[in-house]
Amino acid sequence: MQVVMATNNENKLREAREILSPLGIEVLSQTEAGVHVDPEENGETFAENALIKARAVFELVKKPVIADDSGLCVDALGGRPGVYSARYAPKDQLCSKLLGELRDVPEEERGAYFCCTIAYIDENGSGTVAGKCEGMIGYEERGTNGFGYDPVFVYGDKTLAEMTAEEKNAISHRGAAMRQLCEVFRERYGETHADK
Ligand code: IMP
Repeated sequence: MQVVMATNNENKLREAREILSPLGIEVLSQTEAGVHVDPEENGETFAENALIKARAVFELVKKPVIADDSGLCVDALGGRPGVYSARYAPKDQLCSKLLGELRDVPEEERGAYFCCTIAYIDENGSGTVAGKCEGMIGYEERGTNGFGYDPVFVYGDKTLAEMTAEEKNAISHRGAAMRQLCEVFRERYGETHADK
């Protein structure tokens, strides 16, 4: 089956494809679907924002659409940047700004988690699934893979940016949410080829 992903973020698109294509779901970009939308993400939760993005594209393509809204919640910052993760700093300064804010925070208080909510919508209606990945914020940027906050998010003994795509997808918030999404699609559409 085919779904359109309502995103302009190439990294989210790449990870969605890595996770969903082995399960028989082909993920089309907005460009491949012939649309370009960038709606204002003015929701207060990941779910609200994911639904805003999914609905905006569904109105135009009338095919199943998915949208990912995600972010990093840092314990010592009371859950910030959360839904504002993309707007916390310019893209190339996300990690350095976060490390600066946490400069004096001791190891035991450096807990953090990534959240990912995926909204899906088709002619039968809409819904959301969510995934979480718990870890901590390190003291320096390590690794060159991934995107966003990956170089400072430590899971086990590696940052997400030191992991291969397979390693990250197996434990990530997005991987967890996408696997649930696959279950929803199996119930709605039957086989997605995941069992073949
Ligand atoms: P939004 O979902 O478009 O609001 O953007 C979420 C932001 O959270 C991204 O731009 C990244 O900065 C960050 N983020 C979300 N998922 C990840 C991830 O898997 N690794 C690193 N940063 C992420």
